[in-house]
Amino acid sequence: MNPLKNVVETDNIKLSEDGRAVVIIDQSKLPNLTEYLTLTTAEELYEAIQQLRVRGAPAIGIFAGYGIYCLAQTIKTQSYDEFAKKFHEYKEYLNSSRPTAVNLSWALNRMEQVVTDHKESSVSEIVALLGKECRAIHEEDIAMCRAISEYGLSLLKDGDGVLTHCNAGPLATSRYGTALGPLFLGKEQGMEFHVFADETRPLLQGARLTSYELQRAGIDVTLICDNMASIVMKNGWVQACLVGCDRIAANGDTANKIGTSGVAILAKHYGIPFYVLGPSSTIDMSCPTGAQIEIELRDPDEIKKKFYEKPMALDEVKCYNPAFDVTDHTLITGIVTEKGILYPPFCDSLSELFR
Ligand code: MRU
Repeated sequence: MNPLKNVVETDNIKLSEDGRAVVIIDQSKLPNLTEYLTLTTAEELYEAIQQLRVRGAPAIGIFAGYGIYCLAQTIKTQSYDEFAKKFHEYKEYLNSSRPTAVNLSWALNRMEQVVTDHKESSVSEIVALLGKECRAIHEEDIAMCRAISEYGLSLLKDGDGVLTHCNAGPLATSRYGTALGPLFLGKEQGMEFHVFADETRPLLQGARLTSYELQRAGIDVTLICDNMASIVMKNGWVQACLVGCDRIAANGDTANKIGTSGVAILAKHYGIPFYVLGPSSTIDMSCPTGAQIEIELRDPDEIKKKFYEKPMALDEVKCYNPAFDVTDHTLITGIVTEKGILYPPFCDSLSELFR
């Protein structure tokens, strides 16, 4: 298989052959170890999201759909009410694993809708319908990533330098990814890009995952520390910034991996277009602005200890470890969805999208 296909066609999330477990690549072990995990219990599914074994907003949604389908199969009752109650408990539990990416609750709500829409059906019929729904969520994501990649590619020219933050590639979604999708698609069409991948402190998704995916696909990639973004922009090496998103508010404010808003501020300073790429399921019209987005706070040891042989700060030193930040809509040039490219004023273009 050619290396590009190998990257964009690897199934990082799938159902086991008997359809009772979710099988994932453990992203926390990449790039040094490609280990597959087979998960069945609610606790294992929760832990996999919480520990970023599966991560990236769309991937978390796909995973949650498969996960709750597997859990639904373990509910041993013929009573609709008992089934729906236990299903709801599992849903709430999985939904509490990470708060910021809307795709998690979006996928779980979509699965629960199947249950509430079929009150007259038998439990086994409902479980069969849930199986169809989670497979549909995955299939739709593949199509959405492809469409986002096509729209995104229309914004780039052969030879462009592109800066990206965190990982919004195949591992974070399915197939092409969102922010990295145009790069893979362009490569397929013979275009060359020069990509700068921010390492993305503190969990290093850029170093461990983005540079891995791009390098494996034969795309020119240069890894930089997050605080080097300014110099590569100043040097004239970046013609566009492409990033993913975890929740887009109704006014266009966008939550994405911590450090994204800094990239957007720098891009504005240097006059570089800054594009957010994501499926419309990442847009939360019930959230008026970024101020209402809950930002996940994570363990301080991720900053001080996780990737070091010895702690890098005294034990008593305080750490602040927000996993995401919000990029103000005024810094965003365009939002690329599977339905097209949205431009400011985002209040109007976003509400038009859902009309
Ligand atoms: O904490 P992570 O690794 O799940 O954060 C991921 C990001 O911020 C991505 O940019 C976002 O989820 C979009 S993935 C297509």
